[in-house]
Amino acid sequence: MKKLKISVLASGRGSNFQSIIDSVASGYLNAEISLLITDNPDAFAIERAKKHGIEYLIMMPKQFNSKDDYYRNIAIELQNREVGLIVLAGFMRIVGKPLIDGFTNKIMNIHPALLPSFPGFHGQKQANDYGVKISGCTVHFVDEGMDTGPVIIQAAVHVNDDDTEDTLSERILKLEHKIYPAAIKLFSEGRLEVIGRKVKIKGIVPDENNIVNPPIPG
Ligand code: GRF
Repeated sequence: MKKLKISVLASGRGSNFQSIIDSVASGYLNAEISLLITDNPDAFAIERAKKHGIEYLIMMPKQFNSKDDYYRNIAIELQNREVGLIVLAGFMRIVGKPLIDGFTNKIMNIHPALLPSFPGFHGQKQANDYGVKISGCTVHFVDEGMDTGPVIIQAAVHVNDDDTEDTLSERILKLEHKIYPAAIKLFSEGRLEVIGRKVKIKGIVPDENNIVNPPIPG
């Protein structure tokens, strides 16, 4: 099967970016990371790209005339490299229409809560403050809303009485590093079918005894 070309968009430390780099290196993902785009010249994700010989571009909205212009230019960079999947990994912006229109159902995001609960910033803090007993993370396709696109895969953790935002975030992050590569793998194998709001996963049977975690492709 032809190798999927991935581009990662990140604004910060890039630990999810790293989990994808590692999944490619180990052979779990039959894909190539063609490009990192960041809107933050100080993002640690850049160091990760340099270390692994991945091309990167720093593209900041203020360099462009408008939000649409910004995303149009990002789309051009990605089309030039024949990117097949855009992975948002801590990209702290709402993606604009020109990019979404050019890559419909080819942009994924990971959110540190069980959507549609606690969208937006600080999903872990919102969940902890609310007092839910289970939270987790969600990989979804990106539409024009804030964390509103069709859900691909979710994984859950128990929220403990003595959790803080930090301890809960740490537990959720470990799961993020598993389910993001898993979602990308399913995409790369052509196993995700989007029907309206629903994403059908071909060839995976949920384990009804496991109420917490999803089946992850091996
Ligand atoms: C993660 O918690 C992710 O769910 C959220 O932003 C954070 C990014 O972390 N969208 P990192 O930059 O991947 O380490």
